[in-house]
Amino acid sequence: MIDELNKHLPMELSAHLRYSGQAQMLRFHGYNKLADKYTEEAEEELGHAHKLIYRIQQLDGAPNYLPELVSDPIKKCDVPAMLAADLEVEQSVLDSLNALNTLAEGKAADWETSNVLRGLITDTEDHVTWLNTQLELIAELGKANYLQAQL
Ligand SMILES: [Fe+2]
Repeated sequence: MIDELNKHLPMELSAHLRYSGQAQMLRFHGYNKLADKYTEEAEEELGHAHKLIYRIQQLDGAPNYLPELVSDPIKKCDVPAMLAADLEVEQSVLDSLNALNTLAEGKAADWETSNVLRGLITDTEDHVTWLNTQLELIAELGKANYLQAQL
């Protein structure tokens, strides 16, 4: 279980760094409301990493603190492309969490780890829902109207 948790941990650390960077980029370009949301998401990802680190420590493991590149970094402030890329990132995080939880609830019979993972799954599903909603709003309102609401 420790090794599997350690394989997932870099995804949460990377997501934290990714959303922190994007929050800065969004603020630089004046999209302050979206920047606030990204700052919140970055904090939530760090919280996920902390929960996994604590659980790995409880299991007597050594947490892997190195982030990894989960997808291409966003180089320019193209908001719809950014949201679509983040949706892919969150979906792969969700797949990884669900696979981990299947292991925790099955072979490992580790109910406390499953408890932690189910909390992360709920947050990640909320994030996927939010990203899908933003992409739907852009399709319905048009990019310019959506962006105007983010200033
Ligand atoms: Fe997360």
